[in-house]
Amino acid sequence: MTTENKLTHCSFCNNHKDQVNKLIVGEQVAICSDCIELCNQLITNDLPKESDPIEDSNFDAEAITAYLDDHVIGQDDAKKILSVAIANHYKRITYHPPDDLEITKGNVLLIGPTGSGKTLLAKSVAKFLNVPFVVADATSLTEAGYVGDDVESLISMLLANADGDIKLAERGIIFIDEIDKIARKGESTSITRDVSGEGVQQALLKLVEGTVCRVSPSGGRKHPNSEMIEVNTKNILFIAGGAFVGLSELIKNRVQGTTIGFGADIKASDVEISSDLVSPDDLTKFGMIPEFIGRFTTTVSLSELDKTQLIRVLTEVKNNYINQYKYLFSIDKVELSFEDKAIEQIVDNCLKLKTGARGLHTEIERTLMPHMFYIRNYYKNGVEKINISQELVLEPKAIL
Ligand SMILES: Nc1ncnc2c1ncn2[C@@H]1O[C@H](COP(=O)(O)OP(=O)(O)OP(=O)(O)O)[C@@H](O)[C@H]1O
Ligand SMILES: [Mg+2]
Repeated sequence: MTTENKLTHCSFCNNHKDQVNKLIVGEQVAICSDCIELCNQLITNDLPKESDPIEDSNFDAEAITAYLDDHVIGQDDAKKILSVAIANHYKRITYHPPDDLEITKGNVLLIGPTGSGKTLLAKSVAKFLNVPFVVADATSLTEAGYVGDDVESLISMLLANADGDIKLAERGIIFIDEIDKIARKGESTSITRDVSGEGVQQALLKLVEGTVCRVSPSGGRKHPNSEMIEVNTKNILFIAGGAFVGLSELIKNRVQGTTIGFGADIKASDVEISSDLVSPDDLTKFGMIPEFIGRFTTTVSLSELDKTQLIRVLTEVKNNYINQYKYLFSIDKVELSFEDKAIEQIVDNCLKLKTGARGLHTEIERTLMPHMFYIRNYYKNGVEKINISQELVLEPKAIL
């Protein structure tokens, strides 16, 4: 092909200038508008995606707490401490401090009884911040090389939640639930040592501190031939949560030890675990390894919800159970309502279960079960409204 000939054709697809919209001709080569568009697409696909800028309110602890107030009842101290930790985290990853200053990452440890809102707090924070979020169960994690998900699977999950956007994943939040279940058993005896729990804690250390992880983009298992993506965990915020049953007993022993001779006999149940009472030493005694605890600089403790708070969980919180069931009943054209006494009774039953707000779901489900079973008959028989009384909570039955 002569140069002259070339310049009437696209050097890339060889289409003639009459076959294309535009042909841009240089000294030696020519390119048509279709190929320009194609090249453009290839380039933009390869560029790292621009993540949305972080909202200014993410740096405002008060704004975070105000949002949490809409979703989580009580736990005021926990909300404040968590909000400050989050705001600092985002300041740390957004602004660049002077060269000689490095702000250390402050991962968060949530301690509180079952059903007190640990998972809910973490989920609500992620929703507010609009960042990718992963909740994983510590008990499902294993050391690399064992059967199960190794700790790096957390990063693959985060990446999947960020739709493959590495930059976004790198500032996401990973919530590791049931962290207390990977405590090693027994303080120092090697015979009873639970190796896998301690091993998982060890494996998590690097991840929590900040390391470059090579993960498969599909989130699947590692395969020697599959393409790997590098994710830096330096700016990922880790929140660990656990009930730490028995921790108050350890704290009691310590507190009592220091007050020997002062006559006070403190019962474990009297010791409310509060954020400033839990010492790293208590957690080490519980079975967490010191290096692990050292990486969770903020400890937040949640308290058991009392009756008034449980009533608020049931009726006030956004997305509360009562509204959920009202909606379910409305699908079958039956209007559901509750007498105040009925709500109190549900809460009283729930308190007996000792499962915190978790029990509310169980109790409301138990109360409404017969009605939900017959709901089609209600409508057929002209029953348009059901008002749940205290009796119907004490003895759930259909009203037909
Ligand atoms: N403080 C709270 N305010 C509103 N709802 C709550 C609160 N605590 C718990 N709930 C509700 O109770 C249920 C269980 O809560 P959540 O999963 O947060 O408990 P948890 O503290 O993580 O317990 P566990 O230790 O068993 O995992 C959720 O449906 C949640 O909406
Ligand atoms: Mg939980």
